[in-house]
Amino acid sequence: MSKYRIGLIGLGGMAQAHIRWMSAFTDRMELVAVNDVNEEALARVGEEQGIAPEKRYASYAALIADPDVDAVVSVTPNNVHADIVSLCLAASKPFLAEKPFTRIFEEAVPLLAQYEQQPVAAMIGFTYRFTPAFRYARELVRDGKLGQIRSFSSQYLQGWGAPQYNVGYNWRFDKSVTGTGTLGDLGSHMIDMARFLFGEFEELSAQLHTIVPERLDSRTGEPVKIEVDDFASFQARMTGEVRGIFQTSRNAIGSGNQHEISIYGDTGTLHASTEDPNRIVWIREEDGQLARTVLNVPKHCEVTQYEQFLAMLDGGQPDGLPGFMDGYRNQQVLDAIIRAAESKTIVQL
Ligand SMILES: NC(=O)c1ccc[n+]([C@@H]2O[C@H](COP(=O)([O-])OP(=O)(O)OC[C@H]3O[C@@H](n4cnc5c(N)ncnc54)[C@H](O)[C@@H]3O)[C@@H](O)[C@H]2O)c1
Repeated sequence: MSKYRIGLIGLGGMAQAHIRWMSAFTDRMELVAVNDVNEEALARVGEEQGIAPEKRYASYAALIADPDVDAVVSVTPNNVHADIVSLCLAASKPFLAEKPFTRIFEEAVPLLAQYEQQPVAAMIGFTYRFTPAFRYARELVRDGKLGQIRSFSSQYLQGWGAPQYNVGYNWRFDKSVTGTGTLGDLGSHMIDMARFLFGEFEELSAQLHTIVPERLDSRTGEPVKIEVDDFASFQARMTGEVRGIFQTSRNAIGSGNQHEISIYGDTGTLHASTEDPNRIVWIREEDGQLARTVLNVPKHCEVTQYEQFLAMLDGGQPDGLPGFMDGYRNQQVLDAIIRAAESKTIVQL
């Protein structure tokens, strides 16, 4: 069976994870081209991965146009997500593009029109669909283990942005590059998880806040005013009258990468967390007693992102693959959250 020839755009932190994930499938896919605007990163990763010099591209447009590239993996900052997706659609090149789908919703709208004209196999990097505990939670919810689902609480917390760490100004704080702060960064994952588990957002209210108002730019030595959130909370009504509350922060000291959800149904409760990704807590009444069981996630819920990416490239439609429309709808919900927070009103979707 021939190998898919992959072109990788953006060679920073998260690209390292993609390279590692790809390397589990060397019999089916091969990294053949790379691109970064940072010449040092381009040369270094090109060398490490044994990429031919002529396939180390200075422009992502050239990489996408390369007939020797069968599929694209895009791991750049948010300001170029839309352009890369648009070029992949125009070239009919399957892709895996990182979240958030676009920087702002206005960039997602023309992409939808383009996709409807010419659909292309696409995966968006909503990685937590591949956390075994979350996938198992979806199965248990669908199997009716909790009875009718009434509500849930979701949080995605990191601590690296807290004032005491003095993290300097970088693209994640630059509104013109990132669009939003922790909302699009971590909040997009919570939104995707809620959609994965419960369906669509129907109405919501929200608050966005910037806890650390300025950060030092190491290039100028000057403080820069921060125009994106580092704390976001929202509450929503979803399909089937399921109600959820959400919080995300970059200032939660002690939280490394803590994404978790508690789900409450008529006959029980589930807790699933990245802190314990292969187990799930199930609470219910049994023989008149409250019973709490820690369930091990079954093997069939251990689906990986690249397993599904490969299945998608093979023409399959794997269960729960985060596709183009998941990216688009996610961006629509992010936009509704911004509108709700700015207007201090409840927004319908
Ligand atoms: N799915 C996840 O769990 C997850 C986790 C982390 C990051 N991400 C996403 O991955 C993306 C990248 O994040 P990161 O942490 O790797 O950032 P990073 O800053 O570490 O790396 C970004 C890389 O892109 C390069 N780049 C910037 N502009 C470019 C352009 N125009 N063309 C080509 N390359 C360009 C930079 O030089 C850098 O090497 C973001 O969209 C982020 O939201 C997803």
